[in-house]
Amino acid sequence: MLLGVNIDHVATVRNARGSIYPSPLEAALLAETHGADLITMHLREDRRHIKDADVFAVKNAISTRLNLEMALTEEMLENALRVQPADVCIVPEKRQEITTEGGLDVLSQQHKIAEFTQILTAAGIRVSLFIDADAAQVQASREVGAPVIELHTGAYADAADQSQRHHQLMRLEEAALQASELGLVVNAGHGLNIHNVASIARILSIQELNIGHALIAQSIFMGLPAAICQMKEAIFRARSIPY
Ligand code: PXP
Repeated sequence: MLLGVNIDHVATVRNARGSIYPSPLEAALLAETHGADLITMHLREDRRHIKDADVFAVKNAISTRLNLEMALTEEMLENALRVQPADVCIVPEKRQEITTEGGLDVLSQQHKIAEFTQILTAAGIRVSLFIDADAAQVQASREVGAPVIELHTGAYADAADQSQRHHQLMRLEEAALQASELGLVVNAGHGLNIHNVASIARILSIQELNIGHALIAQSIFMGLPAAICQMKEAIFRARSIPY
C-alpha cells in the first residue's frame, strides 16, 4: 500500500504568519526521504494554504510523484496542464468549508468530468475522482473514463460510534470491491490517523492512502520523519494481518 503525504497544512502554518517558513517544499523533500511514496497537495481556488508557486516548486524538485488535488474549474484545468503532475485528483470545493466535505458528485456532472478527464489524460496526467463510497458514483466514475477513484473516508473517520463506524467501513469495502471489479484503481483518504487507519489499510483493493492533517499534527510532537514512519508501520502491520 502506498502512502501519499499531503503537505497542505505546512503551508497553513506558514501562511498564518505570512512568512516563508515552514516550507512546503522542504516538507515534501523530507517526506520523500522518509517513506512518502508520493506528495499530495490541494491548490484551492482561494489559495488558503498551497500557492501556485508551491505547486511548481514541489513538482520540479520531488523524485516520487505529485498528486495535485483541484476543483472542477477551467482555471484549475489550465493550472494542471501547466504543472503536469503525474496525477490530478478532482475534488468538490466550497468556499466556506473548512476541508473537503463529501465527495464529488460525478453523476450530475458526467459531461464536464468526462471532458476534463479526456483533456488531462491526453496530456499524460492520470485522473482520479474523489467520491463517496456510493455504488452509483463508482459506476459513474467508470463511465466518465477516469482510471482512478479516491474514496472519501471522512464519514468513517467522523463516525459518532462503533456501529456507525462499522457501517461506514462496510460501505467503503463494498465500493472498493465494486470499483476494482470495474477495473478502477482505488485510493482512499480524508480524516485518517494513527488510530483509525488500520481498518482501511486492511481493505486489499485499496492501493494508496492520502493523509495530511494527522501527519502534520503528529509531526509537531515527534517530527515529520517519525510521524511518517509511525503511519507506515501502522499501515503495514494492518496489511500483513490476514483479513
Ligand atoms: N484526499 C483528498 C482528496 C483530500 O481532499 C484530502 C484533504 O485535502 C485528503 C485526502 C487528506 O485529508 P486529511 O488532511 O484529513 O488527512
